[in-house]
Amino acid sequence: MTGRGGGGARTFPPSFLFGTATAATQIEGGCTTSDWYAFAREPGRIKDGDRPDVACDSWNLWESDVALQRRLGMGAHRLSIEWARIVPREGAVDHAALDHYRRILGALGDAGIEPMVTLHHFTLPLWLAARGGVLAPDFAARFADFARLAAGALGDLARLWVTINEPNVLAAQGYLLGAWPPAKKSLPGALRANRALLEAHVAAYRALKDARGDAARVGVAYHLRVAQPENARSLLDRAAAGLFGRVFTDAFPAAVEARGAQDFFGINYYSRDVIRFSLRHAAELFADRRIPAGAPVSDLGWEIYPEGLGALARRWARRSGVPVYVTENGIADAVDDRRGDFLVAHLREVAGAIAAGADVRGYFHWSLLDNFEWAEGYEPRFGLVEVDYATRARRVRASGELYARIARERAV
Ligand code: FCB
Repeated sequence: MTGRGGGGARTFPPSFLFGTATAATQIEGGCTTSDWYAFAREPGRIKDGDRPDVACDSWNLWESDVALQRRLGMGAHRLSIEWARIVPREGAVDHAALDHYRRILGALGDAGIEPMVTLHHFTLPLWLAARGGVLAPDFAARFADFARLAAGALGDLARLWVTINEPNVLAAQGYLLGAWPPAKKSLPGALRANRALLEAHVAAYRALKDARGDAARVGVAYHLRVAQPENARSLLDRAAAGLFGRVFTDAFPAAVEARGAQDFFGINYYSRDVIRFSLRHAAELFADRRIPAGAPVSDLGWEIYPEGLGALARRWARRSGVPVYVTENGIADAVDDRRGDFLVAHLREVAGAIAAGADVRGYFHWSLLDNFEWAEGYEPRFGLVEVDYATRARRVRASGELYARIARERAV
């Protein structure tokens, strides 16, 4: 399953960043002012009634998390800062929360770990959610205010910034499938959310660049997938796969590109969709997304398809003309019997893309820790490091040790 390239070792350039990725709500705990805090209290929203109230308790245990990254020999870390914590009420700024993030970013820098800071990773302050969330008329302006605030308070400690994580996933889960806040089910609503997120990204991009100039490198973490027709001879399957690829995965990056609003291109990659045309799935662009018989899958049933990452990295490096980072890639694997092979196969794809001329600058594995996996709760285990939710103890998995070795040898 190593894709192209066959047997020989593949190496990474000396400047290539090996890192891990996390998001505030999924690990921190202790934030009561976000839409997800409220959403998780509504019956039936989250699997097993799980709540992000404590999560990995990283708000208190962040120093041991930095120590873990150090022990793994990481060169970078992608984290998000919680808007709802920093601006808990409209117009109010919690300076202690900003200071807390300053300490984390400072400690990462001291450890030689380059931070990549995400401003929006799915969650919103409750006050803004109550006003319409991403569809509030002033959403882009408020998000730009937040970007300006973050740039002023933290800008000297971070070079790499992600404005928005996976806008297409947020629009689909929150506005089309109704699985995440604000739990709406409307295709026009989802398209409006997508549009609003685009305007918000552009506004935040400009705010960060105005504040920091080229000292800030700013991009989006796009959720990209590979869409293929189940039956290559079926016109309908081909049309449905084409539509899904264009609308769900390509539209947002193409729009950002057209606005000239990115300094790098972030790829979050997990899986592919093998698509069968289906009238019953009209709201989902007629795409019945399936797993090929016998294909290897994660604990969440997502197909393991490393070739997709190499193909996407080559394609978007060429097309975007800016450096690429793999801003997320990982697997739910509680017993840790697939994560090692998954890492090797996906990193070989990245190395292969670099060898073919793609300017890929880094890879952030999702995730450092087991964490709160949104509506799936705590059951999926994405961590290189296992978390015992009874004690919050951390234990490095065998795949974590393997990743440390790859990062040390800079070869796979
Ligand atoms: C991505 C999200 C991230 C995490 C992984 C498994 O879509 O950005 O927060 O939930 O999936």
